[in-house]
Amino acid sequence: MIKKILVTGSSGQIGSELVMALRSTYGGKNVIASDKCANASKKIKSSGPFEQLDVLDKDTMGSIIDKYQIDAIIHLAAILSAVGEKNPMLAWNININGLINVLELAREKELKRVLIPSSIAAFGPTTPVDNTPQKTILKPTTMYGVTKVAGELLADYYVSKYGMDIRGLRYPGIISNETLPGGGTTDYAVAIYFEAVKSGKFECFLSENTMLPMMYMPDCLKATIDLFHADFNKLKNHSDFNVGAFSVTPKLLAESIKKYMPNFEITYKPDFRQAIADSWPNSIDDSCAKAEWGWQPAFDLDAMTQDMLKVIEEKHKQGLI
Ligand code: SER
Repeated sequence: MIKKILVTGSSGQIGSELVMALRSTYGGKNVIASDKCANASKKIKSSGPFEQLDVLDKDTMGSIIDKYQIDAIIHLAAILSAVGEKNPMLAWNININGLINVLELAREKELKRVLIPSSIAAFGPTTPVDNTPQKTILKPTTMYGVTKVAGELLADYYVSKYGMDIRGLRYPGIISNETLPGGGTTDYAVAIYFEAVKSGKFECFLSENTMLPMMYMPDCLKATIDLFHADFNKLKNHSDFNVGAFSVTPKLLAESIKKYMPNFEITYKPDFRQAIADSWPNSIDDSCAKAEWGWQPAFDLDAMTQDMLKVIEEKHKQGLI
């Protein structure tokens, strides 16, 4: 039984919501939020412990594990694709050396479980683009993708070499309305909703027909928690599960918004992120996740659009955005 979980990168897009979801199951004091930045949200700080932690600082990570008697880590701290292309060595350092610190401490302190995120960025231009299989060509052309492939391999190495319980999943673009994503290529799919509500128009940094796999945050939380709770003995794959929900282009996303906001306008001005998006798949085959741990998403594009607009309109009315 897992009793105490450390979450790294807890102020990020996924971390800020995952911590709250885990706390509602495990109890506030049993989910230790941590982030490099000391300014965690009020929600995170008032509902359980928060520790400032740079994942490159192995000693501090070790002391936090001892202090709270942590038995599992969900390691979310990372540099995303667009920031990674601007600063490749930063992406390598944080994504690889941060992960090694987590894996080594988990090994040394005999933690019961580690969950690591991978991404559709593990794929590259030579990977089959449609219904991309679980086992396929992994030759990414971004530093972020290189660190994700290396991370999957490292995690699987620790599973086979040391018999450790490590799981991971390849997130698609994650769309949410609580915390903005930090420097990814799929970020347009979040910004478009905020701009739709605030100004009724959006200039997209990807071209109109760029198809990418995406997922709404409630499904992302469900995928993460379901894999975290899966029976390890039933897993044939470990650190690299494909998970999908739906695929969308900027044009289709705009059409979905127009169903509820007919005057919404979109224009396109592709930048350096277009090349990153072009190297990623259109859609994902997640049959292994479905078969091995029962993965099933709930939200399609229009269901997500309705929910996103409702929540963001309410925030706008309250003057929060
Ligand atoms: N959403 C991520 C990014 O754009 C992909 O994992 O970098």
